[in-house]
Amino acid sequence: AVPKAAARGAFILFEGVDRCGKTTQSTKLVESLKAAGVNAELWRYPDRTTEMGKMINAYLQSSLDMDDGAIHLLFSANRWEKRAAMEKALGDGVTLVVDRYSYSGVAFTAAKEVPGLDLEWCKAPERGLLRPDAVLYLDMPVDAAKTRGGFGEERYETGELQERVRTHFRVLREDWWTIIDASGTIDDVHSKCAAAADEAIQRCREGAELARLWD
Ligand code: TYD
Repeated sequence: AVPKAAARGAFILFEGVDRCGKTTQSTKLVESLKAAGVNAELWRYPDRTTEMGKMINAYLQSSLDMDDGAIHLLFSANRWEKRAAMEKALGDGVTLVVDRYSYSGVAFTAAKEVPGLDLEWCKAPERGLLRPDAVLYLDMPVDAAKTRGGFGEERYETGELQERVRTHFRVLREDWWTIIDASGTIDDVHSKCAAAADEAIQRCREGAELARLWD
């Protein structure tokens, strides 16, 4: 008999405004998946370790200025430079838990309200990147996020911009996303994330194919 091909991993994405708990929850999810025997890795965007990522990091820390269109394309290119590696890992059966991706890319640039850089312009360079199997959107009012530690240290961490980011996330939301109230306890939020992740992993085991943004 022909051996059955190993199941691919799932692409599980966390999105939300700054300080909503994505980093805590994505780390916790990877730990719990690993403990359950799932081959899982935590990835994040921007990936600040690459050459492009170093420029993005300098921009976010305000040591480098850049045109709004150019930095948008750089954030996107930082996903494109990792696309093949992501596809390879997923094909090898690794479940990728990812902290931010194209939806952040679009929501943040669109929130700057630069003439010409509308939602459609922002989405265009993301087309053809891998589409997540699940989006865990951690929803939280900006006022609540602001009271959490660390808010205000980087370029985009101002209340008004974050409000517009949240509005744009609402426009980008699709009905297959999982919307999670991020104001719950860490354990409550985690169990909701874990349930949605298990469901996505199961779907991939049953043969769900990788799709692309934005078709
Ligand atoms: P991140 O490294 O996730 O920072 P934090 O841990 O503080 O959430 O993201 C850095 C910032 O970059 C954040 O304000 C969101 C923004 N961003 C974009 O503007 N475009 C993008 O494509 C991505 C992935 C993030």
